[in-house]
Amino acid sequence: MSLLVDACYGREISRTPVWLMRQAGRYLPEYMKIRRQHGFHAMMSEPDLITEISLQPIQRFNMDAAILYSDILVIPEAMGINFRLVPGTGPVFENPVKRKDKIMKLNPPNPRKLFHVLKGVHQLRKELSPEKALIGFAGAPWTIATYMVEGKPSKDYRYIRSLAHTEPKAFHFLMEVLTKGIIQFVTEQVKAGADVIQIFDTNAAYISRDFFETNCLPYLKRIVAAVKKTGAPLILFVKGGNWYDIFKELGVEVVGLDWNLSLGEVRKKLGEDISLQGNLDPAILLTSEEIIHRETIKVLESYGAGNRHIFNLGHGITPDVQPDAVETVVETVKSESPKFHASNTKDSVLVG
Ligand code: CP3
Repeated sequence: MSLLVDACYGREISRTPVWLMRQAGRYLPEYMKIRRQHGFHAMMSEPDLITEISLQPIQRFNMDAAILYSDILVIPEAMGINFRLVPGTGPVFENPVKRKDKIMKLNPPNPRKLFHVLKGVHQLRKELSPEKALIGFAGAPWTIATYMVEGKPSKDYRYIRSLAHTEPKAFHFLMEVLTKGIIQFVTEQVKAGADVIQIFDTNAAYISRDFFETNCLPYLKRIVAAVKKTGAPLILFVKGGNWYDIFKELGVEVVGLDWNLSLGEVRKKLGEDISLQGNLDPAILLTSEEIIHRETIKVLESYGAGNRHIFNLGHGITPDVQPDAVETVVETVKSESPKFHASNTKDSVLVG
Protein backbone atom coordinates (compact mmCIF):
# COMPACT_ATOMS: atom_id res chain seq x y z
CA MET A 1 0.00 0.00 0.00
CA SER A 2 1.07 3.55 -0.58
CA LEU A 3 1.28 6.51 1.80
CA LEU A 4 -1.13 8.39 -0.44
CA VAL A 5 -3.86 5.74 -0.38
CA ASP A 6 -3.38 5.38 3.38
CA ALA A 7 -3.84 9.14 3.78
CA CYS A 8 -7.05 8.97 1.72
CA TYR A 9 -8.52 6.63 4.35
CA GLY A 10 -6.91 8.19 7.43
CA ARG A 11 -4.77 5.15 8.23
CA GLU A 12 -1.77 5.71 10.46
CA ILE A 13 1.26 6.88 8.45
CA SER A 14 4.71 8.12 9.40
CA ARG A 15 4.71 11.33 7.34
CA THR A 16 2.54 13.40 5.01
CA PRO A 17 2.48 12.19 1.38
CA VAL A 18 3.32 14.74 -1.31
CA TRP A 19 2.65 15.15 -5.02
CA LEU A 20 1.94 18.34 -7.01
CA MET A 21 -0.66 19.12 -9.64
CA ARG A 22 1.00 19.55 -13.08
CA GLN A 23 4.11 17.87 -11.73
CA ALA A 24 4.75 16.51 -15.24
CA GLY A 25 5.01 19.65 -17.31
CA ARG A 26 6.89 22.44 -18.98
CA TYR A 27 8.98 23.55 -15.98
CA LEU A 28 11.01 20.33 -16.37
CA PRO A 29 13.86 20.40 -18.93
CA GLU A 30 13.45 16.64 -19.50
CA TYR A 31 9.77 17.28 -20.38
CA MET A 32 10.68 20.08 -22.79
CA LYS A 33 13.16 17.81 -24.52
CA ILE A 34 10.39 15.35 -25.41
CA ARG A 35 7.95 18.19 -26.10
CA ARG A 36 10.24 19.66 -28.78
CA GLN A 37 10.53 16.29 -30.50
CA HIS A 38 6.93 15.14 -30.41
CA GLY A 39 4.40 17.89 -29.60
CA PHE A 40 1.64 17.77 -26.98
CA HIS A 41 -0.89 15.55 -28.72
CA ALA A 42 1.61 12.85 -29.69
CA MET A 43 2.90 12.84 -26.12
CA MET A 44 -0.58 12.12 -24.79
CA SER A 45 -1.30 9.41 -27.36
CA GLU A 46 1.72 7.17 -27.11
CA PRO A 47 1.74 4.78 -24.08
CA ASP A 48 5.57 4.77 -23.92
CA LEU A 49 5.67 8.56 -23.80
CA ILE A 50 2.76 8.75 -21.32
CA THR A 51 4.73 6.41 -19.08
CA GLU A 52 8.06 8.18 -19.46
CA ILE A 53 6.65 11.65 -18.83
CA SER A 54 4.49 10.59 -15.87
CA LEU A 55 7.60 9.06 -14.27
CA GLN A 56 9.84 12.11 -14.79
CA PRO A 57 8.82 13.94 -11.58
CA ILE A 58 9.05 10.67 -9.61
CA GLN A 59 12.58 10.06 -10.83
CA ARG A 60 13.69 13.62 -10.17
CA PHE A 61 11.94 14.38 -6.86
CA ASN A 62 10.82 10.99 -5.53
CA MET A 63 7.23 12.14 -5.10
CA ASP A 64 4.76 9.79 -3.41
CA ALA A 65 2.47 9.54 -6.42
CA ALA A 66 2.56 9.71 -10.19
CA ILE A 67 -0.33 11.35 -12.01
CA LEU A 68 -1.19 10.01 -15.42
CA TYR A 69 0.15 12.32 -18.13
CA SER A 70 -2.94 13.16 -20.16
CA ASP A 71 -5.51 15.94 -20.20
CA ILE A 72 -9.14 16.44 -19.22
CA LEU A 73 -9.82 17.36 -22.86
CA VAL A 74 -9.16 13.86 -24.23
CA ILE A 75 -12.87 13.18 -23.60
CA PRO A 76 -14.11 15.85 -26.05
CA GLU A 77 -11.51 14.57 -28.52
CA ALA A 78 -12.97 11.07 -28.17
CA MET A 79 -16.32 12.70 -29.08
CA GLY A 80 -14.78 14.15 -32.23
CA ILE A 81 -14.40 17.69 -30.83
CA ASN A 82 -10.70 18.42 -31.25
CA PHE A 83 -8.49 21.16 -29.88
CA ARG A 84 -5.12 22.72 -30.60
CA LEU A 85 -2.85 24.07 -27.93
CA VAL A 86 -2.23 27.70 -28.86
CA PRO A 87 0.84 29.23 -27.21
CA GLY A 88 -0.15 32.02 -24.85
CA THR A 89 -3.87 31.10 -25.05
CA GLY A 90 -4.27 27.44 -24.16
CA PRO A 91 -6.63 24.86 -25.65
CA VAL A 92 -8.66 26.16 -28.59
CA PHE A 93 -11.42 24.08 -30.23
CA GLU A 94 -11.87 24.48 -33.95
CA ASN A 95 -15.54 23.50 -33.77
CA PRO A 96 -16.96 24.35 -30.35
CA VAL A 97 -20.51 23.18 -29.64
CA LYS A 98 -22.13 26.53 -29.07
CA ARG A 99 -25.65 25.84 -30.25
CA LYS A 100 -28.45 23.54 -29.27
CA ASP A 101 -28.63 21.72 -32.61
CA LYS A 102 -24.93 20.85 -32.46
CA ILE A 103 -25.06 19.78 -28.82
CA MET A 104 -28.05 17.50 -29.40
CA LYS A 105 -26.11 15.66 -32.12
CA LEU A 106 -23.11 14.84 -29.94
CA ASN A 107 -22.10 11.20 -29.67
CA PRO A 108 -20.67 9.64 -26.50
CA PRO A 109 -16.87 9.36 -26.32
CA ASN A 110 -15.59 6.54 -28.49
CA PRO A 111 -13.78 4.14 -26.13
CA ARG A 112 -11.39 3.11 -28.89
CA LYS A 113 -10.06 6.66 -28.96
CA LEU A 114 -9.20 6.44 -25.26
CA PHE A 115 -7.61 3.01 -25.39
CA HIS A 116 -4.05 4.35 -25.69
CA VAL A 117 -4.54 6.28 -22.43
CA LEU A 118 -5.58 3.08 -20.66
CA LYS A 119 -2.58 1.29 -22.13
CA GLY A 120 -0.48 4.12 -20.69
CA VAL A 121 -2.08 3.60 -17.25
CA HIS A 122 -1.36 -0.13 -17.41
CA GLN A 123 2.25 0.34 -18.43
CA LEU A 124 2.79 3.09 -15.88
CA ARG A 125 1.46 0.94 -13.03
CA LYS A 126 3.87 -1.82 -14.06
CA GLU A 127 6.87 0.52 -14.08
CA LEU A 128 6.01 2.50 -10.95
CA SER A 129 7.27 1.04 -7.69
CA PRO A 130 4.54 -0.46 -5.49
CA GLU A 131 4.88 2.09 -2.67
CA LYS A 132 3.98 4.92 -5.08
CA ALA A 133 0.35 5.58 -5.90
CA LEU A 134 -0.85 6.05 -9.45
CA ILE A 135 -3.42 8.82 -9.81
CA GLY A 136 -5.86 8.58 -12.69
CA PHE A 137 -8.17 11.48 -13.41
CA ALA A 138 -10.92 13.10 -15.40
CA GLY A 139 -12.41 16.54 -15.61
CA ALA A 140 -15.80 17.07 -14.02
CA PRO A 141 -18.63 17.39 -16.59
CA TRP A 142 -19.00 21.12 -15.89
CA THR A 143 -15.34 21.96 -16.49
CA ILE A 144 -15.14 19.86 -19.67
CA ALA A 145 -18.42 21.39 -20.90
CA THR A 146 -17.08 24.93 -20.41
CA TYR A 147 -14.23 24.25 -22.83
CA MET A 148 -16.43 22.46 -25.38
CA VAL A 149 -19.03 25.22 -25.47
CA GLU A 150 -16.84 28.31 -25.13
CA GLY A 151 -14.20 26.85 -27.43
CA LYS A 152 -11.27 28.43 -25.58
CA PRO A 153 -10.23 29.64 -22.14
CA SER A 154 -12.46 32.51 -21.10
CA LYS A 155 -12.24 35.06 -18.33
CA ASP A 156 -15.70 34.25 -17.01
CA TYR A 157 -17.32 31.46 -19.11
CA ARG A 158 -20.44 33.58 -19.33
CA TYR A 159 -21.64 32.07 -22.57
CA ILE A 160 -22.16 28.59 -21.12
CA ARG A 161 -23.41 30.10 -17.84
CA SER A 162 -26.20 31.76 -19.80
CA LEU A 163 -26.78 28.76 -22.08
CA ALA A 164 -27.57 26.59 -19.04
CA HIS A 165 -30.58 28.89 -18.49
CA THR A 166 -31.64 29.60 -22.07
CA GLU A 167 -31.17 26.07 -23.40
CA PRO A 168 -31.48 23.82 -20.35
CA LYS A 169 -32.35 20.77 -22.43
CA ALA A 170 -29.18 21.04 -24.51
CA PHE A 171 -27.08 21.87 -21.45
CA HIS A 172 -28.30 18.81 -19.56
CA PHE A 173 -27.92 16.62 -22.63
CA LEU A 174 -24.25 17.63 -22.80
CA MET A 175 -23.74 17.07 -19.06
CA GLU A 176 -25.41 13.66 -19.37
CA VAL A 177 -23.23 12.51 -22.27
CA LEU A 178 -20.10 13.71 -20.48
CA THR A 179 -21.09 12.06 -17.19
CA LYS A 180 -21.56 8.67 -18.83
CA GLY A 181 -18.25 9.02 -20.68
CA ILE A 182 -16.38 10.10 -17.54
CA ILE A 183 -17.81 7.20 -15.50
CA GLN A 184 -16.74 4.70 -18.11
CA PHE A 185 -13.29 6.28 -18.50
CA VAL A 186 -12.41 6.46 -14.80
CA THR A 187 -13.75 2.94 -14.20
CA GLU A 188 -11.46 1.68 -16.98
CA GLN A 189 -8.53 3.64 -15.52
CA VAL A 190 -8.94 1.84 -12.19
CA LYS A 191 -9.17 -1.51 -13.99
CA ALA A 192 -5.97 -0.63 -15.86
CA GLY A 193 -4.13 0.09 -12.59
CA ALA A 194 -4.97 3.55 -11.24
CA ASP A 195 -4.99 3.50 -7.41
CA VAL A 196 -6.75 6.82 -6.87
CA ILE A 197 -8.99 9.00 -9.04
CA GLN A 198 -8.91 12.79 -8.97
CA ILE A 199 -11.79 14.74 -10.46
CA PHE A 200 -10.91 18.28 -11.57
CA ASP A 201 -13.72 20.82 -11.42
CA THR A 202 -11.46 23.79 -11.99
CA ASN A 203 -14.07 26.02 -13.56
CA ALA A 204 -16.48 25.78 -10.64
CA ALA A 205 -14.69 29.00 -9.66
CA TYR A 206 -17.09 30.84 -12.03
CA ILE A 207 -20.44 29.67 -10.72
CA SER A 208 -22.66 30.21 -7.70
CA ARG A 209 -23.50 27.62 -5.11
CA ASP A 210 -27.05 27.53 -6.41
CA PHE A 211 -25.88 26.93 -9.99
CA PHE A 212 -23.53 24.21 -8.77
CA GLU A 213 -26.25 22.45 -6.78
CA THR A 214 -28.76 22.57 -9.60
CA ASN A 215 -26.61 21.96 -12.66
CA CYS A 216 -23.45 20.13 -11.58
CA LEU A 217 -23.98 18.26 -8.32
CA PRO A 218 -26.42 15.62 -9.62
CA TYR A 219 -23.82 14.55 -12.20
CA LEU A 220 -20.92 14.59 -9.73
CA LYS A 221 -22.98 12.37 -7.40
CA ARG A 222 -23.19 9.71 -10.08
CA ILE A 223 -19.45 9.92 -10.75
CA VAL A 224 -18.65 9.60 -7.04
CA ALA A 225 -20.94 6.57 -6.74
CA ALA A 226 -19.30 4.94 -9.78
CA VAL A 227 -15.77 5.49 -8.44
CA LYS A 228 -16.84 4.03 -5.07
CA LYS A 229 -17.85 0.86 -6.88
CA THR A 230 -14.32 0.48 -8.26
CA GLY A 231 -12.87 0.49 -4.73
CA ALA A 232 -10.46 3.37 -5.47
CA PRO A 233 -10.57 6.50 -3.30
CA LEU A 234 -11.59 9.77 -4.93
CA ILE A 235 -10.03 13.22 -4.60
CA LEU A 236 -12.44 15.98 -5.59
CA PHE A 237 -10.76 19.27 -6.54
CA VAL A 238 -13.32 22.01 -7.03
CA LYS A 239 -11.39 25.21 -7.57
CA GLY A 240 -12.97 28.28 -6.01
CA GLY A 241 -16.06 26.30 -5.02
CA ASN A 242 -15.83 26.50 -1.28
CA TRP A 243 -18.94 24.45 -0.61
CA TYR A 244 -17.26 21.93 1.61
CA ASP A 245 -20.42 20.87 3.41
CA ILE A 246 -21.72 19.62 0.04
CA PHE A 247 -18.53 17.69 -0.73
CA LYS A 248 -18.63 15.98 2.63
CA GLU A 249 -22.19 14.88 1.99
CA LEU A 250 -21.11 13.52 -1.38
CA GLY A 251 -18.98 10.97 0.46
CA VAL A 252 -15.66 11.60 -1.28
CA GLU A 253 -12.56 10.37 0.52
CA VAL A 254 -10.53 13.54 -0.14
CA VAL A 255 -11.33 17.18 -0.84
CA GLY A 256 -8.67 19.22 -2.67
CA LEU A 257 -8.40 22.84 -1.58
CA ASP A 258 -7.11 25.79 -3.52
CA TRP A 259 -5.03 28.34 -1.67
CA ASN A 260 -7.66 30.89 -0.71
CA LEU A 261 -8.82 28.84 2.28
CA SER A 262 -7.14 27.61 5.42
CA LEU A 263 -6.68 23.85 5.72
CA GLY A 264 -7.09 24.16 9.48
CA GLU A 265 -10.41 25.95 9.24
CA VAL A 266 -11.85 23.56 6.67
CA ARG A 267 -10.68 20.65 8.81
CA LYS A 268 -12.52 22.10 11.81
CA LYS A 269 -15.70 22.44 9.77
CA LEU A 270 -15.55 19.02 8.11
CA GLY A 271 -14.31 16.93 11.02
CA GLU A 272 -12.01 13.95 11.10
CA ASP A 273 -13.55 11.44 8.73
CA ILE A 274 -12.55 13.08 5.46
CA SER A 275 -9.03 13.84 4.13
CA LEU A 276 -7.80 17.17 2.76
CA GLN A 277 -5.35 17.83 -0.06
CA GLY A 278 -3.49 21.06 -0.66
CA ASN A 279 -2.88 23.92 -0.61
CA LEU A 280 0.36 25.87 -1.04
CA ASP A 281 -0.06 28.93 -3.25
CA PRO A 282 1.72 28.00 -6.55
CA ALA A 283 3.21 31.52 -6.66
CA ILE A 284 5.37 30.56 -3.65
CA LEU A 285 7.35 28.37 -6.06
CA LEU A 286 8.57 31.58 -7.70
CA THR A 287 10.18 32.87 -4.48
CA SER A 288 13.35 31.90 -2.63
CA GLU A 289 14.34 28.61 -1.02
CA GLU A 290 13.90 30.19 2.40
CA ILE A 291 10.37 31.42 1.70
CA ILE A 292 9.36 28.12 0.07
CA HIS A 293 10.62 26.20 3.11
CA ARG A 294 8.80 28.52 5.52
CA GLU A 295 5.50 28.55 3.59
CA THR A 296 5.54 24.75 3.15
CA ILE A 297 5.85 24.38 6.93
CA LYS A 298 2.96 26.83 7.36
CA VAL A 299 0.73 24.59 5.23
CA LEU A 300 1.71 21.55 7.34
CA GLU A 301 0.98 23.54 10.50
CA SER A 302 -2.31 24.78 9.18
CA TYR A 303 -3.54 21.19 8.82
CA GLY A 304 -1.86 20.23 12.10
CA ALA A 305 -1.34 16.77 13.53
CA GLY A 306 -3.13 13.88 11.88
CA ASN A 307 -3.06 11.28 9.13
CA ARG A 308 -5.53 12.82 6.72
CA HIS A 309 -3.43 15.46 4.93
CA ILE A 310 -2.02 15.05 1.41
CA PHE A 311 0.42 17.83 0.59
CA ASN A 312 -0.12 19.58 -2.75
CA LEU A 313 -0.34 23.03 -4.26
CA GLY A 314 -3.64 24.91 -4.47
CA HIS A 315 -3.44 24.60 -8.30
CA GLY A 316 -0.94 23.45 -10.92
CA ILE A 317 2.77 24.26 -11.23
CA THR A 318 3.34 27.03 -13.78
CA PRO A 319 5.96 26.70 -16.55
CA ASP A 320 8.15 29.50 -15.11
CA VAL A 321 8.98 27.53 -11.94
CA GLN A 322 12.54 26.30 -11.37
CA PRO A 323 12.77 22.57 -10.62
CA ASP A 324 14.82 23.37 -7.48
CA ALA A 325 11.76 25.08 -6.02
CA VAL A 326 9.79 21.83 -6.30
CA GLU A 327 12.70 19.95 -4.75
CA THR A 328 12.56 22.30 -1.74
CA VAL A 329 8.83 21.66 -1.25
CA VAL A 330 9.20 17.88 -1.45
CA GLU A 331 12.25 17.78 0.84
CA THR A 332 10.56 20.08 3.36
CA VAL A 333 7.42 17.95 3.49
CA LYS A 334 9.50 14.80 3.94
CA SER A 335 11.69 16.24 6.69
CA GLU A 336 9.15 18.35 8.58
CA SER A 337 5.95 16.31 8.39
CA PRO A 338 6.87 13.26 10.58
CA LYS A 339 6.26 15.31 13.69
CA PHE A 340 2.64 15.76 12.67
CA HIS A 341 2.12 12.01 12.82
CA ALA A 342 1.47 10.16 16.05
CA SER A 343 3.68 7.18 15.21
CA ASN A 344 6.79 9.36 15.55
CA THR A 345 6.47 9.98 19.22
CA LYS A 346 9.87 11.59 19.81
CA ASP A 347 9.39 14.95 18.05
CA SER A 348 5.66 14.71 17.63
CA VAL A 349 3.61 17.86 18.02
CA LEU A 350 1.12 15.50 19.66
CA VAL A 351 3.43 14.97 22.62
CA GLY A 352 3.81 17.44 25.46
O1 CP3 B 1 1.01 16.57 -14.22
C1 CP3 B 1 -0.25 16.57 -14.23
O2 CP3 B 1 -0.93 17.23 -13.44
C2 CP3 B 1 -0.95 15.58 -15.12
C3 CP3 B 1 -1.41 15.95 -16.39
C4 CP3 B 1 -2.50 17.01 -16.57
C5 CP3 B 1 -2.45 17.95 -17.62
N1 CP3 B 1 -3.62 18.64 -17.65
C6 CP3 B 1 -1.33 18.07 -18.57
C7 CP3 B 1 -1.22 19.29 -19.38
C8 CP3 B 1 -3.70 17.21 -15.90
C9 CP3 B 1 -4.23 16.52 -14.65
C10 CP3 B 1 -4.41 18.24 -16.60
C11 CP3 B 1 -5.75 18.71 -16.22
C12 CP3 B 1 -6.36 19.84 -16.91
N2 CP3 B 1 -6.25 20.18 -18.23
C13 CP3 B 1 -7.27 20.76 -16.30
C14 CP3 B 1 -7.75 20.71 -14.88
C15 CP3 B 1 -6.74 21.22 -13.93
C16 CP3 B 1 -6.25 22.63 -14.12
O3 CP3 B 1 -5.06 22.79 -14.32
O4 CP3 B 1 -7.06 23.54 -14.06
C17 CP3 B 1 -7.65 21.69 -17.30
C18 CP3 B 1 -8.59 22.86 -17.10
C19 CP3 B 1 -7.00 21.29 -18.49
C20 CP3 B 1 -7.14 21.94 -19.83
C21 CP3 B 1 -5.84 22.42 -20.30
N3 CP3 B 1 -4.88 21.61 -20.87
C22 CP3 B 1 -5.34 23.73 -20.27
C23 CP3 B 1 -6.09 24.93 -19.73
C24 CP3 B 1 -4.06 23.68 -20.82
C25 CP3 B 1 -3.14 24.82 -21.11
C26 CP3 B 1 -2.62 25.27 -19.82
C27 CP3 B 1 -1.26 25.84 -19.92
O5 CP3 B 1 -0.65 25.77 -18.88
O6 CP3 B 1 -0.86 26.31 -21.01
C28 CP3 B 1 -3.77 22.35 -21.16
C29 CP3 B 1 -2.51 21.82 -21.72
C30 CP3 B 1 -1.70 20.96 -20.79
N4 CP3 B 1 -2.23 19.92 -20.08
C31 CP3 B 1 -0.30 21.02 -20.54
C32 CP3 B 1 0.01 19.97 -19.68
C33 CP3 B 1 1.35 19.55 -19.16
C34 CP3 B 1 0.68 21.96 -21.19
C35 CP3 B 1 1.15 21.21 -22.39
C36 CP3 B 1 2.36 21.75 -23.07
O7 CP3 B 1 2.33 22.87 -23.60
O8 CP3 B 1 3.34 20.99 -23.14
